[in-house]
Amino acid sequence: MSELESVARRILNCTLCDLCQGRTHAVPGEGPESARIMLIGEGPGAQEDVQGRPFVGASGQFMLETLATIGLRRQDVFITNLVKCRPPGNRDPLPDEILMCSQTYLDLQIELLDPKIIITLGRFSLGRFVPQASISRVHGQPQSVGGRLIYPLLHPAAALRRPEWRQAFQVDVARLADLIKN
Ligand code: URA
Repeated sequence: MSELESVARRILNCTLCDLCQGRTHAVPGEGPESARIMLIGEGPGAQEDVQGRPFVGASGQFMLETLATIGLRRQDVFITNLVKCRPPGNRDPLPDEILMCSQTYLDLQIELLDPKIIITLGRFSLGRFVPQASISRVHGQPQSVGGRLIYPLLHPAAALRRPEWRQAFQVDVARLADLIKN
């Protein structure tokens, strides 16, 4: 078993915070261990909780369709979340939950995968890397954090809610193509 697989196994059995009580499945994340791009969402939604896989609902479909426009497929990237268990009623993850889960698992997944680009999805994910940044100001602008390249995107669920955010998401993904080339 690889180290990333053993992290995933620990996540599946995790009871470090109360989110474990309401979950159907924990969602460790998935993708090839050779992936150079890592996408980090907020936390599993209803579909993800049922299937145990990240971004398999409506926002995932929109995100993956948009990434396909620049030739990125699900099997090319590693997709995970800040918190690995669904917050009840789809509420926002709490600061303690984010801290506990990402310090225990996400940081390790990043270290083991060692991606060239980390794409954050939404404000919570961005906040883990650039706490003071406003997502509405910096989306689509690469950030350098501790030697890592962070590319902030709006959350695809938000992009689905408002046409102007949907367009911004699509424009930011188009610009990502240049970043990947370079
Ligand atoms: N939204 C997220 O942030 N993550 C998922 O896995 C699904 C929806």
